[in-house]
Amino acid sequence: MPSEMKRRRPEKPEDLRSNRWFGPDDMRSFGHRSRMKQMGFAQEEFEGKPVIAIVNTWSGFAHCHAHFRDRVEDVKRGVLQAGGFPVEVPVMALPENFVKPSTMLYRNLLAMEVEENLRAQPVDGAVLMGGCDKTTPALLMGAISAGLPAIYMPAGPMLRGNWRGQVLGSGSDLWKYWDERRAGNVSDAQWDEMEGGINRSDGVCMTMGTAATMTAMAEVLGMSLPGASSIPAPDANHPRMAAACGRRIVEMVWEDLIPTDILTPGAFDNAIITSAAIAGSTNAIIHLVAIARRAGIDLKLERFDELSAHVPVIANIRPSGKYLMEDFYYAGGLPGLMTRIAKHLDLTQKNVLGKTLQDTLDAAKVWNDDVIRVLDQPISSANGLAVLRGNLAPGGCVMKPSAAEPRLLKHKGPALVFDDYNHMASQVDLDDLDVTPDHVLVLRNSGPQGGPGMPEWGMLPIPTKLVKQGVRDMVRISDARMSGTSYGACVLHVAPESFVGGPLALVKTGDLIEVDIPERRIHLHISDEEMAKRKAAWVPPPPRYTRGYGAMFSQHIGQADVGCDLDFLQGTAATAEPEIH
Ligand code: FES
Repeated sequence: MPSEMKRRRPEKPEDLRSNRWFGPDDMRSFGHRSRMKQMGFAQEEFEGKPVIAIVNTWSGFAHCHAHFRDRVEDVKRGVLQAGGFPVEVPVMALPENFVKPSTMLYRNLLAMEVEENLRAQPVDGAVLMGGCDKTTPALLMGAISAGLPAIYMPAGPMLRGNWRGQVLGSGSDLWKYWDERRAGNVSDAQWDEMEGGINRSDGVCMTMGTAATMTAMAEVLGMSLPGASSIPAPDANHPRMAAACGRRIVEMVWEDLIPTDILTPGAFDNAIITSAAIAGSTNAIIHLVAIARRAGIDLKLERFDELSAHVPVIANIRPSGKYLMEDFYYAGGLPGLMTRIAKHLDLTQKNVLGKTLQDTLDAAKVWNDDVIRVLDQPISSANGLAVLRGNLAPGGCVMKPSAAEPRLLKHKGPALVFDDYNHMASQVDLDDLDVTPDHVLVLRNSGPQGGPGMPEWGMLPIPTKLVKQGVRDMVRISDARMSGTSYGACVLHVAPESFVGGPLALVKTGDLIEVDIPERRIHLHISDEEMAKRKAAWVPPPPRYTRGYGAMFSQHIGQADVGCDLDFLQGTAATAEPEIH
């Protein structure tokens, strides 16, 4: 159990945690009650009722959560219907496109904010409203550590993008058409039209990017209502789902059903297997490891490879496939997909309803076999995920073979090294850049500390000179992450990162690098002696931050293979309930 918060099923209103604030006949409770009355609430509205914090990641910048101002009212409606008392608790929004240098720098800060908001205030249970990339893991991590009943309400994907009658997918089509624009094939007017057509409704990215992957993971883990993650944000089923979250969390408080009752090792296995079948974002690896460690489960990278190896990619969704999340929903959504991989899953795992995955799948069906394929007609024979190790990545690194050109899955070529993002950006458009399609592009200083915050720079742009020759994929290696909507032969999350002296810091342009996906191997072709010599000569760069959150982040952040959580936030050590006086 992650904290010393109440762990006793409440039998009566006086047993509720919030009653510690509102119940006693003393001076402090007078203050608590009178302040509720100050806000216009009568005592019978809140006293003796499960107080539900609706943790809302809305802000004026939160492009993917623009509907959360309305949706929170739907959740409140559900809480009231079930006899609870809803309280909206705004937290940091983390809009993926606006937050620099990376939302990943702030995932743990949001997790901390959630945990402390729940712990410090008169809360009995929480509805977690998230969706845009890092919000999902952050909300779950915070709620796990807080140790109170919690249900995750996903924002839902936006509708398909549209440009001149063509379907546009978040991210994936941006990368694709940006290459075409650099090659001179897209005009200013066409580019402007695409800008207005690619994101045309409320909701998160509608490709199988990090948002769609992580909201699916929350559902497979059991933290959402069955089927919730696939409902498009503008669909009328979405507010109905939101209200159902509000109703259910009140029941969960009376049942004392907390996240660690749901998040078992088997639940994480189910998540990994499902992520393989949907060719989920590589970011899910880092987040699942971090979530698991909050729940006291030491999830290793190798577990992803072991479980993914026998699961084909059957979700025909971009960037690995053809369709978008709206199509996925109509085809049966996540429960439908899981019926296809049921033999790989542990169907006894329980969810926020207290029901089993078998119960969910009994009510699920696939309605379109092209969008959700049968197992022997996958969209890719390559795995959705490979974990590589070798002298270049002793702590491991990852790649998404299904999103790469097959010819690059076994490749040896000379390195072209960029010291950091700005160096890369200054070189990549040069007509006289000494680069061939066989080169391996290396980007360093883009990891957790070096980025800082491990930005999504891992899909390095193909040098313009090669784009004009028709090259669209190359082997690229970095300690960065990659957007889930990206694609290509990109080796990511190299651990340890170059900024702390990992072997990536020692590569020189011209060194031969070999990537062998079938053998799960990455190798820098220099001798051990040469590696040791370069290591001895390596000079650590100065810290990125000398004050503020950044300095704390730099001192405490873990590497990618352990989930990039802050060291003092991990684990299940008990945290005392606040004294009320
Ligand atoms: Fe918010 Fe993609 S930018 S989910």
